[in-house]
Amino acid sequence: MATETESRPAGSPADGDDVLLRVEGVKVHFPIKRGVIFDKTVGYVYAVDGVDLAIRRGETYGLVGESGCGKSTLGRAILKLEPPTAGSVHFDGVDVASLQGEELRRKRREMQMVFQDPLSSLDPRQSVESLLLEGMKAHGLAKDQAAATRRLRELLTAVGLPAKSLSKYPHEFSGGQRQRIGIARALSVDPKLIVADEPVSALDVSVQAQVINLLEELQDNFGLTYLVVAHDLAVVKHISDRVGVMYLGALVEEAGADDLYAAPLHPYTRALMSAVPVPDPVIEDRRERILLTGDLPSPANPPSGCRFHTRCPWRQPTRCDTDRPELRTVQIEGIPATHRVACHYVEDIASGAIAAHRVSAKAVDPTLVQSDPSLDGSLIGPSSIGEATSADPL
Ligand SMILES: Nc1ncnc2c1ncn2[C@@H]1O[C@H](COP(=O)(O)OP(=O)(O)OP(=O)(O)O)[C@@H](O)[C@H]1O
Ligand code: SF4
Ligand SMILES: [Mg+2]
Repeated sequence: MATETESRPAGSPADGDDVLLRVEGVKVHFPIKRGVIFDKTVGYVYAVDGVDLAIRRGETYGLVGESGCGKSTLGRAILKLEPPTAGSVHFDGVDVASLQGEELRRKRREMQMVFQDPLSSLDPRQSVESLLLEGMKAHGLAKDQAAATRRLRELLTAVGLPAKSLSKYPHEFSGGQRQRIGIARALSVDPKLIVADEPVSALDVSVQAQVINLLEELQDNFGLTYLVVAHDLAVVKHISDRVGVMYLGALVEEAGADDLYAAPLHPYTRALMSAVPVPDPVIEDRRERILLTGDLPSPANPPSGCRFHTRCPWRQPTRCDTDRPELRTVQIEGIPATHRVACHYVEDIASGAIAAHRVSAKAVDPTLVQSDPSLDGSLIGPSSIGEATSADPL
């Protein structure tokens, strides 16, 4: 019989790799309710729809993807702040779903969250001292006054804030300083895992680097493991050991940060990366740009098959709109087994055997088509790559 480790998908960290967090088949579906008197469920928002990932102790896993693809919901599901509809979350070997009451509360201490907007996540009526002491008291970590005072000082030093900050209130700080308070609050209960949801996206660019550096420093000093959610690819590259790219509730690509940025393979990742400007003007002029047209489809009505098929420039007539691709290791020379991609045709795309569809926009005035019978209505050009590929007979 296959052991649990042997049955893991190839390329995914095995239990022997000192995995702190393992997420398997996690789904979070939010019911859509209608009706004033009867609360009828008329559909679901498939916010997270089958995510597998594992994070090793001491590692930073970066999660990227467009707004609305389910990053925050996944983060919340991991901490059981949002009950998953299906799947399992194992933290430090313990099935989080099996925890209730006091046990769950104790485990939660080890999994903390840092939010995007520190101002709205910090109670404005509480001083910094009270904000930091709250969690420590709740978890019995501030038993005597002297130890608590010492711990508060240590925390402020760790996040680079002066000791006099303790008596101040959140509104008296700048955005970057407030995020430092948010980080100190997460650290105050001595966590193992920090889920940081867009920790720097509300901050000025100059301050972003300071907070990112602080997170890295704290990781070294306190042996922390991070799941960092961000939409800024540069931030994710800088901070992450491994990166997962999410699209409409699922991972479409996962790899070591350097591997992913050196060779993005999934059409969606390639499109995301191609939108990032390169400082070198020569490379900037020559590099591939993939136009990602159309909005993210609604997670309440996700496309069939590969969820990216409505926007994919490499979409093929078979499988793409019928079979959902699994996240799998790829057979491409030079690509390590830890690089996984959810695309049926990734090998053919990488080798050039399949080319991206070219879209030649044809500006045809529909009124002209009606008045001139020699012009066929089908000549009207597509307005987007998505439209073109869905109409393309191949
Ligand atoms: N409580 C909820 N009830 C219903 N739908 C929800 C709920 N929370 C989130 N959603 C929906 O689930 C989808 C994923 O949302 P989520 O906030 O996880 O995305 P995100 O990737 O974090 O986006 P952003 O980058 O904008 O923060 C969105 O369509 C959102 O509207
Ligand atoms: S499976 Fe098809 S539609 Fe999906 S990314 Fe690959 S080529 Fe594009
Ligand atoms: Mg979010």
